Amino acid sequence: MHLLIHRKSGKRYVAPSLPYNTEHGLVRSTGRTESSTGEPFTVVEPRFVDLWLKLKRGPQWSHPKDLSLVLGLTGLGPGWKVVDAGSGTGFAASFFAYHVRPNGHVYSYDIRPKNISIARENAELFGLQDYISFKEGDVSKGIDERDVDLVFFDLPEPWTAYKHAADALKLGGFLVLYLPTVDQVTRARDELPDCFTPFEVYELVLRRWKSTGPLRPENTGLLHTAFILISRKV
Ligand SMILES: C[S@@+](CC[C@H](N)C(=O)[O-])C[C@H]1O[C@@H](n2cnc3c(N)ncnc32)[C@H](O)[C@@H]1O
Repeated sequence: MHLLIHRKSGKRYVAPSLPYNTEHGLVRSTGRTESSTGEPFTVVEPRFVDLWLKLKRGPQWSHPKDLSLVLGLTGLGPGWKVVDAGSGTGFAASFFAYHVRPNGHVYSYDIRPKNISIARENAELFGLQDYISFKEGDVSKGIDERDVDLVFFDLPEPWTAYKHAADALKLGGFLVLYLPTVDQVTRARDELPDCFTPFEVYELVLRRWKSTGPLRPENTGLLHTAFILISRKV
């Protein structure tokens, strides 16, 4: 894989091999180079954030802006044991795996085998498959792992799995929910058992600005992804 950066615009392309055709002409070689139409390119190895461009689509992924907040507010890092459900496209599982390497691990559950295979394919694209165990299973029926640092639920009815999250987590471990609607947040809050602290509820609004021409916010953008609820097992 190669990352091609068009130096004038910053536009990125992830190419399986060279030469690679872009709207600015054919790019043939690595390093600082020029396309067949004389446009300047830099061609290097892609990083994790570049490979997102190649993600195989499946169920709606947890957005990286929100996962970054989870990272910041939990301190997730190398060595952590994480349970993730549902796997969906495998983006959250891969994001966590990237950060818990080299000695941590992610256990990612989904009830749908088709989604597990998309998630596994994406984890392989990122080269993170050794740090994730994908498991077909319904977390409302049980979670096998114990002494877990973080349980992350991006699924419609997380309250059905509270008991199993509590059994899986270490004392002080984090339960994080990712929920698109207020109705879900209300129910998640109302059904949370006493062995968890009350949720901190967040919504992260990210606004991009135009950086060329007059400096001002973009007219359009992603207006809502999901609420992020964070609790600790006590
Ligand atoms: C929105 S997707 C998750 C996306 C994922 N966080 C990502 O970043 O790619 C929700 C997934 O939860 C799965 N799911 C729903 N209920 C479940 C349950 N009780 N146990 C396990 N997986 C479940 C669905 O099959 C679906 O794949």
